[in-house]
This record gives sequence, C-alpha cells and structure tokens, in this order.
Amino acid sequence: MREITTRRAHDRRPRRLRRTPGLRRLVRETELSPSDLIYPVFVQEGEGEPIPSMPGQSRLSMDDLEGLADELLGLKIPAVLVFGLPDHKDERASAAYDDGGIVQRAVRELKTNAPELVVMTDVCVCGYTPHGHCGVLQADGEIDNDASLELLTRMAVSHAEAGSDVVAPSAMMDHQVGAIREAIDAADLETTAIMSYAAKYASAFYGPFRDAAASAPASGDRRGYQMDPPNVQEAVREIQLDLDEGADLVMVKPALAYLDVIRAAREVSDVPVAAYNVSGEYSMIKAAAERGWADEGAVVMETLTAMKRAGADVILTYFAKDAAHLIREGRS
Ligand code: PBG
Repeated sequence: MREITTRRAHDRRPRRLRRTPGLRRLVRETELSPSDLIYPVFVQEGEGEPIPSMPGQSRLSMDDLEGLADELLGLKIPAVLVFGLPDHKDERASAAYDDGGIVQRAVRELKTNAPELVVMTDVCVCGYTPHGHCGVLQADGEIDNDASLELLTRMAVSHAEAGSDVVAPSAMMDHQVGAIREAIDAADLETTAIMSYAAKYASAFYGPFRDAAASAPASGDRRGYQMDPPNVQEAVREIQLDLDEGADLVMVKPALAYLDVIRAAREVSDVPVAAYNVSGEYSMIKAAAERGWADEGAVVMETLTAMKRAGADVILTYFAKDAAHLIREGRS
C-alpha cells in the first residue's frame, strides 16, 4: 500500500480541472443566465428607426412593443427598461409626466400584452427639456435640486399610475429616492419598486445613448450632479443614502470600467445590485466586431460574466437578446 504522506506543493495542479468542457463546467463559479438580464429600449412617436451609433438597436414604435414583449419572454429575459422620446420638449418637462405621454402609453401597451414582463421606466428629464439637463436649470447654469425633485416625483408617480413595476430615477439629484418613495406611497402605489441609479458617474461612455435618446446637454456637462469617475468611497456613500431612502435595487453605471464599484456595492448592499452595461460599452464591441477585430459573441459573454463575477445580481444591457441566444447555444 502506498504510504500516506503530507501533500507536496507541486502535487496541486489546477490545470487538472480545466482539461475538459465537463470539468470546466463543473467547477465554474459564475454562470450568466437570461434571467439576470434587463433589456433597455427607446420608444418614439410614429415609425421606428435604427439608431446609427448603436448598430443592431432601434428606436421602436408603439406597434413594435407587442412583438418585443413576446420575443423577450420567449428568450426568458424577465425585464425591460423603457426610455421615451417625446414629441415636444419644454422647460417644465411637461411631456415627462403627461398621462398620455410616450412612456406612459408604452407601459400600458406592454403590460396589456404581456402582464408577466417586468416593466421598468427611467425617471429623468434630460430627454424632455430643451437644455438637456437632468433637472431644472437656473439662470446661472446651476441645477436647482429641490425644484428638480418636484418634476422627478411627478414623473415617477405618472409612470407608476400607468403600471410601471419599477421606476428608475437616473437624474442624480440628492434625495430623489426618498422623495419618489414618499410621493408614490402617497398616491397609494406602494407596490411600485424603485431601482436607483445610485452610483452613476459622469462618464464618456454615454455618447451613443445621448444620440439615441436626443438627450445631450445643450451646454455644459453633467459633472455637477453625476459622480466623479476617480471615486469609489463616494459611491458607497451614495448607495447607503439610497438604501436608507428605500431603494429596492441599487445600480452602478457604467459597468465595465467600474467593476471595483460593483464589488463595493455588493459588499455594502442588502438589496440586489444592478450593473448598467451602457451604450458606449455596447458600441465599442460592435465597432470592433464589424472590423473583424473581435469575436463579438465571445467578448459579449466574457464582459457580461465579468460584471456578474464582480457582484452584479442583474445586468442592464443592449446585448440582452444576443446573450440569451448565446447562452442557449451553450456559449460561455
Ligand atoms: C438619463 C440617462 C442616461 C443614460 C441612462 N439614463 C444618459 C446620461 O446620463 O447622460 C445612459 C445610458 C447609456 O449610455 O446606455 N440621465
């Protein structure tokens, strides 16, 4: 019989568990599933049209929504996040909280055709004002925080009334989560959840989105309200504030350049953490793949899995449908 000896360091050979697909599958620590994904969509009045800066994505028409809901549910993607492009913009962002507004109608259409689809709505006025800022712009160019809260709460209540399951404030105004929670509870809509864009950075990765949603600021930038990219401790503070104010999910945005922030969020949050794989991250991969410089499917799976490994419980991504197909094909 072989003598039992203390194991020698060089006997441990990690590659033994990498030898076959079966072994790799067996010991895999992170697995992406279609149920982790939320698909962001843009809805506009009239006809739909492709978004040039985001190949493969379109601004949808109201008529496209029924087909979209069927497609997502067929792929086992549970949720959609709706952005609206209003017909008309004004200083008071009145189209944002109009009961007959584009998002309100889109929500009703989706919930009527597919009640089981989770419908989330972005709550921010940048696409609804001529100046393109996320709140009320004062004459001196500053954003008036508390006047902005009034618009955001009206918008959130109106989304909740239309049937939105989850309102997602993205304006980065202080106390937006608490103010929205109070307002939707006061309207007897306490079952509506809040996903807060808790740690949202002033990022250069939103470029294609602003083109898609026609929401770029006409002057200045968003650095006075969105977070400064070098900071992570501040993200933890923002997340804690939103948790105290009643956030049901907290989000980190963007995702790819902020994996450390996702990890920090996961460590302090007792609610699900969402990561937003934003437009610039999407279009970068698309552009490289178009040139033949990247295997799109492999890069998509690697990227989204990394976000989950970093600590994301759910991921908002324009690649949601592609990822669901890739997972179905057994790609990892
Ligand atoms: C609205 C909003 C933005 C995004 C989501 N909600 C744009 C911005 O803050 O400038 C970006 C999403 C993306 O890039 O995919 N404030």
